Amino acid sequence: MATVELKNMTKVFEGGVKAVDSVNLSVNDKEFVVLVGPSGCGKTTTLRMVAGLEEITSGELFIDGKMMNDVAPKDRDIAMVFQNYALYPHMTVYDNMAFGLKIRKYPKAEINQRVHEAAQILDIEELLDRKPKALSGGQRQRVAVGRAIVRKPKVFLFDEPLSNLDAKLRVQMRAELSALHHRLQATMIYVTHDQVEAMTMGDRIVVLKDGLIQQIGTPLGLYNNPVNRFVAGFIGSPPMNFLKVSLRDQGGKLMADEGSFQLELTPQMAEALRSYVGKEVILGVRPEDLLYSESAQPHNNIVTKVEVVEPLGAEIHLWVSTKANQIVARVAPRYAFHVGDVANLHPDLAKVHFFDLETEKAIL
Ligand SMILES: Nc1ncnc2c1ncn2[C@@H]1O[C@H](COP(=O)(O)OP(=O)(O)O)[C@@H](O)[C@H]1O
Ligand SMILES: [Mg+2]
Repeated sequence: MATVELKNMTKVFEGGVKAVDSVNLSVNDKEFVVLVGPSGCGKTTTLRMVAGLEEITSGELFIDGKMMNDVAPKDRDIAMVFQNYALYPHMTVYDNMAFGLKIRKYPKAEINQRVHEAAQILDIEELLDRKPKALSGGQRQRVAVGRAIVRKPKVFLFDEPLSNLDAKLRVQMRAELSALHHRLQATMIYVTHDQVEAMTMGDRIVVLKDGLIQQIGTPLGLYNNPVNRFVAGFIGSPPMNFLKVSLRDQGGKLMADEGSFQLELTPQMAEALRSYVGKEVILGVRPEDLLYSESAQPHNNIVTKVEVVEPLGAEIHLWVSTKANQIVARVAPRYAFHVGDVANLHPDLAKVHFFDLETEKAIL
């Protein structure tokens, strides 16, 4: 069993920078939780407070229900994998992995057994005699993970462990770490700025901005029901399109007018948006929810000109413009597009979002 609970955890650095602002989070036993957000949002600081490497300014940390604020890092039964791996350059892979156990005075035979077991899990047995400089980035990454595994900690903490790897290796290691989590059945907290890593690896995702939690949810929960414009724009690639529209009543029907096009909203949407009639709101529509058709539709049609075509093979990203906005659509690769073509896009009304112009909170 290993639960981790952060209660109003706050970090104010000398000089007054509030890096983490009253974070509340309960990580369940065996859960893989990802903290995600742009650079500087407080991910590393949060993780370092959990590890005990950074003092908690205010709030409380519990591991398995025990208050940890004043417990030394070595006594927290946590292992952390750092972005830069932090391997000891003069030690072999074996000694790097064994080090944490040696200083904790484990018997030699047990150290040997644990190192070999971890090396086997990570497929690095043949590297045990090498020094870090004789390893590739991906191999160093595995050693850094191995050093954490041998400790059999209650909780694993990962701080952007894949960010120094090339794109292909990152995808591979992503899958390996997910498989490792499944195999070890351990509680893991994983930090990344990459929403794809968050979406693919996390049981739950915590989106942070400016030290504040924006939303906690499952990957698809965040994707389908973002609570505000920031989360909506952060999750998903290419990102959601945001278009300022004015809402007006037209003969009992609610219309969202962008200037270049207008959408007739459903009665249910009209109900939810009632207090916004006569005002401007932000319409959010994901690139995959803009349906392309070769001929203009009678209703809810966005007529645009193709500006950029990005053929990715399995899909095409079509960058188009209205008078006021640039829009990206994700389109099936059945069509041949050319710059300057007219494109008819038809938003799937069941999937669009609306955000308050001022607060940027989701209205529906
Ligand atoms: N030792 C420090 N002293 C002062 N400010 C710091 C220190 N470490 C981090 N910060 C600031 O705290 C904020 C969060 O940093 P960090 O947790 O490293 O963000 P992230 O890991 O999300 O990129 C940033 O504004 C950063 O500049
Ligand atoms: Mg960081």
